[in-house]
Amino acid sequence: MTMPPLFAGGESVQDAYLPLALATLFPGDGLSLLCSLPDRSVRLLLTSPPYNVGKAYERRSSLDAYLEAFVPLIRETLRVLVLGGSVCWQVGSYVNAGEVVPLDLLFYPLFRSAGLTLRNRVVWSREGGLHASRRFSGRHEAVLWFTLGDDYLFNLDAVRVPQKYPGKRAYKGAKLGEYSGHPGGKNPSDVWDIPAVGANHPERTGHPAQFPVELPERFVLSLTNPGDLVVDPFLGSGTTACAALLHGRRAAGAEILPGYRDLARRRMTEALHGVLRVRESGTAVADPQDSPGRGERAPGETGPLF
Ligand SMILES: C[S@@+](CC[C@H](N)C(=O)[O-])C[C@H]1O[C@@H](n2cnc3c(N)ncnc32)[C@H](O)[C@@H]1O
Repeated sequence: MTMPPLFAGGESVQDAYLPLALATLFPGDGLSLLCSLPDRSVRLLLTSPPYNVGKAYERRSSLDAYLEAFVPLIRETLRVLVLGGSVCWQVGSYVNAGEVVPLDLLFYPLFRSAGLTLRNRVVWSREGGLHASRRFSGRHEAVLWFTLGDDYLFNLDAVRVPQKYPGKRAYKGAKLGEYSGHPGGKNPSDVWDIPAVGANHPERTGHPAQFPVELPERFVLSLTNPGDLVVDPFLGSGTTACAALLHGRRAAGAEILPGYRDLARRRMTEALHGVLRVRESGTAVADPQDSPGRGERAPGETGPLF
């Protein structure tokens, strides 16, 4: 008797979602991808939408019109998310005539009124960027992590980071002399220092708003189990899907621009085959004098970056 394959599509990237597809790259609108997914099939929706700042892939509109356009997508998200599943919504600021509008402030009420509960507002802090002259230079963006319901998945042990003082012991009380920190490391907190993908970053593809793998990876490891479906409706160069595939999760994403889809397909295929270039956590992003390859995780090495 021939056994059916564990995952539809094997180790290739499919154009349309099939039940149990390992990797899907939908050529079109993110909302259409969500509409094609079954009810309660997604464990994690993690994305960074266009910011309405006039990049090549978006048309700048009023803030009200910009937000309104996400309402159908949020409604579909609620339909496809499993109970206990998560949404991670990564945004920066919209700047107009010198006025700064942090987009997460505007998105928060939309998700809350749709029935999601905020668990963290993660600050993604990173070096580099434009130098402002009439305000402090912006060096962080935000990720809103929401769950559907209170009985949600959170695998903290999968993302612990080394203790600052690993040998520290309790100096009083019943646990006097015992190690005071968790043996598996500490909670990574809600402030994450992860270098953005700039000019010399080993993961750089040329996409203007590419995530470093380490950012979605930490959410994938803590908010999903192996085999779960992770979705990014604004996939860009494919980073969210890559983080999912590197860790045995299923991935589906949509991207409207063919050039970015080519990047995403190449990187998702590399992730499926364990040869994706990934910066090793904690390493400085190489400057141009450094030897090529520094700061990368070796092909085939798929363990946590931290
Ligand atoms: C902020 S970027 C995401 C970058 C991504 N996180 C990465 O690591 O490369 C947003 C992406 O969404 C795409 N996009 C814009 N509108 C879209 C839509 N309606 N459906 C699908 N993709 C869209 C853009 O072309 C762009 O690549």
